[in-house]
Amino acid sequence: MDISKRTVFIVGATSGIGHELARRFAAAGSTVIVGGRRTDLLGQLAAEGFAAVPVDVTDSGSIDRARDTVLRGYPGLDTIVTMSGIMIPEDLRDPAHFGAAQQTIDTNLLGTIRAIDAFTPHLIGRGGGAIITVSSGIGFLPFPVMPAYAASKAGVHAYSEALRAQLDGTGVEVCELVPPAVATTPEQAQLNPRALKLSEFATEVMDLLQADPTPREILVKGVLMHRWAERDGTYEELVAQRSQALAMLPGRR
Ligand SMILES: NC(=O)c1ccc[n+]([C@@H]2O[C@H](COP(=O)([O-])OP(=O)(O)OC[C@H]3O[C@@H](n4cnc5c(N)ncnc54)[C@H](OP(=O)(O)O)[C@@H]3O)[C@@H](O)[C@H]2O)c1
Repeated sequence: MDISKRTVFIVGATSGIGHELARRFAAAGSTVIVGGRRTDLLGQLAAEGFAAVPVDVTDSGSIDRARDTVLRGYPGLDTIVTMSGIMIPEDLRDPAHFGAAQQTIDTNLLGTIRAIDAFTPHLIGRGGGAIITVSSGIGFLPFPVMPAYAASKAGVHAYSEALRAQLDGTGVEVCELVPPAVATTPEQAQLNPRALKLSEFATEVMDLLQADPTPREILVKGVLMHRWAERDGTYEELVAQRSQALAMLPGRR
């Protein structure tokens, strides 16, 4: 993909990976529209020169309004990134976990589907473009502390595969970004010293995105062990290792 002259809407770019990729696309020459719920951060991004549009992916009306605003200002929009996501630990022995599970699926999986549905007619209508979905290494190798999160991201992967097949022949590409653990704040870097630095991750992502044809999946080196654990026969051992983190759940201490 040529990252230098795209018109990109990143849904979920007020912080973290989305914010960094917004900066990278803009630095490469693309026009970037950023979306999210936090209006204070949207205001800061607008001050930095981004077009900023409020959007809540759990609300179809909000997505439709954002879509109308984006397409009115940027009728040449050719790329949408469905970055919005939340990560919530859940203890499945605590019935109260269901609320977290519902919120996670509503944001990460249904939110992705709502955003794609809102923009697919436009992309098909213009005869080309790209949908970049965002799953996770955890969608391929569960982190048992976050069960619904893992399910939501496995869902995003499966959905991306089906979407690609359904859009075949329309000129609209589907590319799945599969991040491993990425430290988006100093606190996260301290909590998980093995997490990738955001800037290094973003550099690797932009390098991979520029390949032609655009890869179906953006797999930085740090996610390969998650992505291919089943194929490589390391799955059970790695899930057992990752299960040790269950001790961090408040009910298990
Ligand atoms: N960092 C990692 O280690 C990692 C690893 C694998 C995958 N990922 C995935 O990468 C994506 C970005 O994560 P991040 O680590 O950068 O987290 P982050 O800093 O918390 O960013 C999440 C983004 O999603 C937006 N968002 C959340 N709920 C939303 C909603 N209902 N409607 C619209 N936007 C919403 C947030 O904006 P507002 O709060 O302003 O709405 C924010 O811009 C997520 O999908 C995450 O699952 C992250």
